[in-house]
Amino acid sequence: MKKIYLLGNELNPTPLRVFIKSLKQAPYMASNYLYDMRRYLKHSSTLGYGSKNKLRARIIAIYHNVEKGLSLPAPRPGFGESNLSYLLSAIDLYLSRYGVDEFLQAPASALSAYVDFNRAAGNENFPERERILKTIDRIGVASPECGGTVLLTKAQIRAATQNVGAEFFTSRCSVRQYSEEDVSDEDIVEAVRIAQKSPSVCNRQTCKVYVIHTKEQIKRVLDFHGGTRGFGEHVNKLLVVTNKLSSFWGASERNQCWIDGGLFAMSLLLGLHSRGLGACSLNWSKDSSVDREFRKIVEIGDDEAVIMLVAVGHIPESLKVALSHRMPIEDAVCFC
Ligand SMILES: Cc1cc2nc3c(=O)[nH]c(=O)nc-3n(C[C@H](O)[C@H](O)[C@H](O)COP(=O)(O)O)c2cc1C
Repeated sequence: MKKIYLLGNELNPTPLRVFIKSLKQAPYMASNYLYDMRRYLKHSSTLGYGSKNKLRARIIAIYHNVEKGLSLPAPRPGFGESNLSYLLSAIDLYLSRYGVDEFLQAPASALSAYVDFNRAAGNENFPERERILKTIDRIGVASPECGGTVLLTKAQIRAATQNVGAEFFTSRCSVRQYSEEDVSDEDIVEAVRIAQKSPSVCNRQTCKVYVIHTKEQIKRVLDFHGGTRGFGEHVNKLLVVTNKLSSFWGASERNQCWIDGGLFAMSLLLGLHSRGLGACSLNWSKDSSVDREFRKIVEIGDDEAVIMLVAVGHIPESLKVALSHRMPIEDAVCFC
């Protein structure tokens, strides 16, 4: 009795219990933060752009600045001199390491759109003119639709959205009952295509979906995960959503991988919903030891961080879902 009085309990701890807990938790948390930091330092581009992925991420971020500039209400002819110079140097480095490839189509198209914009504005004397023209010539712009800007009308956007009511979004729910019907690869691919349209920082878009489809491997991973007791055996496809740490750099981007990953995962859920499939997010709130072990049973790149898993299956004719009551709207919106 004395002990209970001194420590309270898990729900209602005494200051002594809080103190003892903090002594235990602090080193445990520190080791997990350290694990994340080591992985970020090793795999992100903070210390340089030594790999293809890293250099690609950097080039995307810079050429996207050109596209963003071109999409402003009134771009200034000749804008972005230092950005262009950096972009051309990064492309030169890429060309010297890897040669011309499909990836370079988008940056070359963005540069080409920049040239067109300046010429249309009567500015033949734009910054880095010779280097830009030489680079475009070397890469060749075979797919101009890959980079630059797209002209849209309000009517086009309205036509695409007017039939999508709030009900599409509010009818999505976590489904933990699935029929025996097999989920087709096409449904998964189309849902991923929708997820690919998610915004990502500077358009870096390095999220990936691993589709686990054999019963044995699904069971193995879900047993390891531990969050699907009572429904795991009915899961038809198991998706592992990852994002590449190599696409990010510097201390300020240390959490960006999970922000982009979360946005991607949400669109993926809506994509699956649009195909009439049932899905349930499965957390990857795991400590470093579990994260290490997981990499032994699912082959993902060492530079990839797991965002979350998604259980997928066809929806049975009728089913119960958790009500998952939402908080009052005032808790979620504040007009300041
Ligand atoms: C990142 C994330 C992880 C989740 N992990 C689990 C999980 O491990 N097991 C589970 O049954 N549900 C899991 N869920 C589902 C939530 O319980 C559910 O989304 C929430 O209650 C809201 O309900 P709704 O999805 O039906 O709107 C997870 C949801 C998210 C967003």
